[in-house]
Amino acid sequence: MKPGDTLTVMAESLSKHGDGIAVYDGVEIHVAGLLPGETGDVSVDYVSKQRPRAHGQVLVRRNTHPGRRPPPCPHHGRCNGCALMDMDLTSQRQLKRVELERTWGLLVDRLVGDEHDGRGYRYSAKRVFAGSPGRIKLGSYMRGTHNVADMQGCLVDHPDIVACADELAEVASELRAVPYDETDGEGDLRYAWFKTDGHGHVIVAIITAEPCNSAVHDVAARLQQPAGIAWGTNCAAGNDMRGATLRPLRGRQSVEIDFGELTAHFGPLGFLQPNPIIAAAAYHDLVRVPAGGALHGKVALDLYAGAGVTTRLLRRSFQHVGACESFPESARALGCEPMLVEEFLARILADAHHLHRNPELVIANPPRGGLGTTVCDQLNELNAPRLHLMSCSPASLVEDLRRLTGQHGRYRVIGARAFDTLPQTNHVEVVVWLVGRSD
Ligand SMILES: C[S@@+](CC[C@H](N)C(=O)[O-])C[C@H]1O[C@@H](n2cnc3c(N)ncnc32)[C@H](O)[C@@H]1O
Repeated sequence: MKPGDTLTVMAESLSKHGDGIAVYDGVEIHVAGLLPGETGDVSVDYVSKQRPRAHGQVLVRRNTHPGRRPPPCPHHGRCNGCALMDMDLTSQRQLKRVELERTWGLLVDRLVGDEHDGRGYRYSAKRVFAGSPGRIKLGSYMRGTHNVADMQGCLVDHPDIVACADELAEVASELRAVPYDETDGEGDLRYAWFKTDGHGHVIVAIITAEPCNSAVHDVAARLQQPAGIAWGTNCAAGNDMRGATLRPLRGRQSVEIDFGELTAHFGPLGFLQPNPIIAAAAYHDLVRVPAGGALHGKVALDLYAGAGVTTRLLRRSFQHVGACESFPESARALGCEPMLVEEFLARILADAHHLHRNPELVIANPPRGGLGTTVCDQLNELNAPRLHLMSCSPASLVEDLRRLTGQHGRYRVIGARAFDTLPQTNHVEVVVWLVGRSD
């Protein structure tokens, strides 16, 4: 196989970027414009020398997936945020379940999603400043580059956030502010991170590279839409949006989000699951048994607790809840010292009389990289009767499950459920219930 070849292939699955994946002569070809089950004549653009991988584009599609639709978003193709935009919502959800089982061996009893059209659900959104003075746009990095795709009118962001982002781009353009350029490290406005309560109140953190003479003050003075504005500076290379410092510029510095059973406050940079409506269903299940029954007891642990929604749910039925969170803003809101889970568990394991040494339930909702070897080893040593995990990455989840349920593991899986927190994208959140093994 070489660039320029034309092949006829059928896509069997979908890559995380939304390309159809076909296998031809042992080589995995990622084909833009082909959905699973579709066969096409494909021109090969690139063949890897390191591994059996190629990329291509469809020239002629010979059949059409029954769920294929014209992508409703005008930015689709340049903005890579919504890899499943070419499929209707029912087909997206079928595909997510199939991929969980076929690619990751994760069997879920159901995929929980809302009844809406899968739009306007994001209550938290990050954007990158780009363009030029007078023509600022807010968007996201295009795949594998620092080129920015415009996201004006984004269909999955909550309409409150769309309105704020549009106003911010307009005001920054009028003031001829300078967007930061990742390639040469020059410029001022870098990122904007929006959060809404879904009822018209948006807070925005504007991150600038310029620490002293930033246009952020003039921009903030002109913005009408946000209920609160904070400013952070970050001139380091890389895509870390949190910035080194954050100071309030005006208005409120948190939003109150409704999770059905309770409400919680989130500051400008704290972790907020982008879709609180479906996240609320996942949190509800995370603190219960698979059939829905509530758990009660003396001690429970909430690892990677964030702003503490699950901590507060656990406090309703456990006498002592030990919460661990490393991000200072969130840890402060929880009333605990910011700490890494590794350190938190090490302290508990080192002291046989520690209040949290024998928890009846441990829940953990780690970031994308998963728990990792150290935390899995510590959880095996802790040997709790119940361990409930929530994960946004099937890849790291299966690694963790191997460590927790394999030869040296102390647990076995009794159930798993998926949550469609991010419609139009291939992301899915999974809750897995484990119990201690008696052997
Ligand atoms: C996926 S979020 C979950 C937060 C919360 N449970 C929720 O659902 O809103 C992961 C959280 O873990 C925190 N975190 C990341 N690595 C950590 C570590 N090693 N120790 C403690 N907390 C960590 C992050 O700041 C973030 O708040």
